[in-house]
Amino acid sequence: MTISALDSDTVKLITTTQVITSVSNAAKELIENALDANANNIEVNLSDNGAALIEVKDDGCGITKTDAPYVALSAYTSKISNFSDMNSLETYGFRGQALYALSTMSDLTIISKTKQEEVATMYTIDHCGCIAKSEPHHRATGTTIQVRQLFKQIPVRRQIITNLKKANQDVKVLESFVKSYAMCKSFVRISYKVDGNVIFTKPSIPTLEEAVTYVLGKKVTTNMTWMDIQNAETSMKLMLPLKGTQNVSDLFQSGAQYIYVNNRPIKHKDLEKVVTRTILDAFQHDSSSRKKPIFLLYILTSAANIDVNLEPNKTSILFKEQKKTKAEKCTTLMEWSKGQVPGLKEPLESDSYHTNVCDGFINFSKQNRSQVVKQNPNMTAPQIAQILTNLWKNLSSEERGYYRDLACDDKIEWDTRQEKTKEKSTTNDKKMRNRLLKVLGKMQTLDTEKQKNLFLRTIVPWKMNLEKVTESFLNNSACKNNSPSIGKISSDLWIVHKSAQLWLLNASCLKEEFNTSSTNANVEGTSNEEEHLKLWLLKNDDSSLLHRLYSL
Ligand SMILES: Nc1ncnc2c1ncn2[C@@H]1O[C@H](COP(=O)(O)OP(=O)(O)OP(=O)(O)O)[C@@H](O)[C@H]1O
Ligand SMILES: [Mg+2]
Repeated sequence: MTISALDSDTVKLITTTQVITSVSNAAKELIENALDANANNIEVNLSDNGAALIEVKDDGCGITKTDAPYVALSAYTSKISNFSDMNSLETYGFRGQALYALSTMSDLTIISKTKQEEVATMYTIDHCGCIAKSEPHHRATGTTIQVRQLFKQIPVRRQIITNLKKANQDVKVLESFVKSYAMCKSFVRISYKVDGNVIFTKPSIPTLEEAVTYVLGKKVTTNMTWMDIQNAETSMKLMLPLKGTQNVSDLFQSGAQYIYVNNRPIKHKDLEKVVTRTILDAFQHDSSSRKKPIFLLYILTSAANIDVNLEPNKTSILFKEQKKTKAEKCTTLMEWSKGQVPGLKEPLESDSYHTNVCDGFINFSKQNRSQVVKQNPNMTAPQIAQILTNLWKNLSSEERGYYRDLACDDKIEWDTRQEKTKEKSTTNDKKMRNRLLKVLGKMQTLDTEKQKNLFLRTIVPWKMNLEKVTESFLNNSACKNNSPSIGKISSDLWIVHKSAQLWLLNASCLKEEFNTSSTNANVEGTSNEEEHLKLWLLKNDDSSLLHRLYSL
């Protein structure tokens, strides 16, 4: 086939249909324009799921009459003047393509008024992005953009947006876009309606954290914790699941992994992986599990450190030093999470990336942390973590190698210790099991007189499966601590391990005592028997409910 030029209409459609691919994506471009215009109020309205009308109204700066003829022309933008401005980009838009693309494949109307103008103007835009008609209109300062009959010349896409099932899915996609902006632009009031029905609305909220709570709901955010880290170049906020949450399944939800860079909601597989794995490790979940923990990573960095110009929809970014950034985020995340996410484990050994980068860093920070803390007594843990990260970055590769070697040695030693501990605890468990079986066996063969006393004290019939009780008692991890631990014989009769003694406890008496107690201890608030007992002993300093069985 010989080479020939495509006609201009074909070129126009092929290039512009890359920019706008769906109703949700068209609305997203309009919302970003409203945010770039510094709007405080944004209304998003769809009619017929967007197939008839997509409308975005804002109270931003508006478009001057002088600028109006250029707004929908290809590559006309007020956001940058040349490529070097990308290094200081603060807006969502920069290509000057979105309105042009919309004009080529829909009927586009723009109504706008600036503060200085007396009346608004309504512009009807033709399919080349030029003004076909302009007339005075009534509206306050701001801009309304209306997109009618989207994809009217592209039958395949038109069919998709008019298909009810697909259209409903896209309405949901737009809802999640709206929510993403509602979180990072916390002060902006935003509403989203379809055919007049409110899908989502959010008032102006002062902080990111509060906006996230508003959008995701308290049920999710009460189980979350926030961490901050700041340095001269980057500031990060991370919301991640709180350890000790009762209902762990509430902490996992696919599609609820939010990453923002400079207020732009983005998709970044590597970052998502690092955060997900760190959280799964902390919760001792299998890192290869397909479960996705809820988190929000909010990064502010110099625009010069990133490249947003990767894909038409501007939701992917490249960190200028991709590998380094991943390493830094990972190490920072680990150091920063220490002590705040109890039980945070080191990353998987099988991952050579982690082994090489993070393990060395952990040894480095262990050795240097106290020195840094001494030199900076007023700094917070995250600030100390940042200093350590910077020091680590400035080490030569030989110096880093030294710490990685140390990490290797540590690991071998740790593995050996683990093996020994495992053996020891199996022997201890065995001993404990035998003792328990013995004492419980003895109790079953007590003479009648003593048994009678026991019945009186415990009220419940003295029948039990020794093996079962012993196992359940031993499986209770708390029995290795000093706090009282419980093994249930029946629902009302418990064996209690406390102060190196085995005790028998009548649970129904404990419950009764709680009900009549003047201390008015709150049983409802406690989660299990162990908690009840701890609470009782703490409040009453009274062991009379316990009957000693055996000294260990
Ligand atoms: N809601 C609005 N309020 C004020 N000005 C607007 C609004 N929407 C668009 N504009 C103006 O129209 C111009 C063109 O908008 P368009 O979305 O096509 O391009 P952009 O935002 O500059 O870049 P991109 O194509 O990356 O979105 C913008 O640069 C801006 O000056
Ligand atoms: Mg734009």
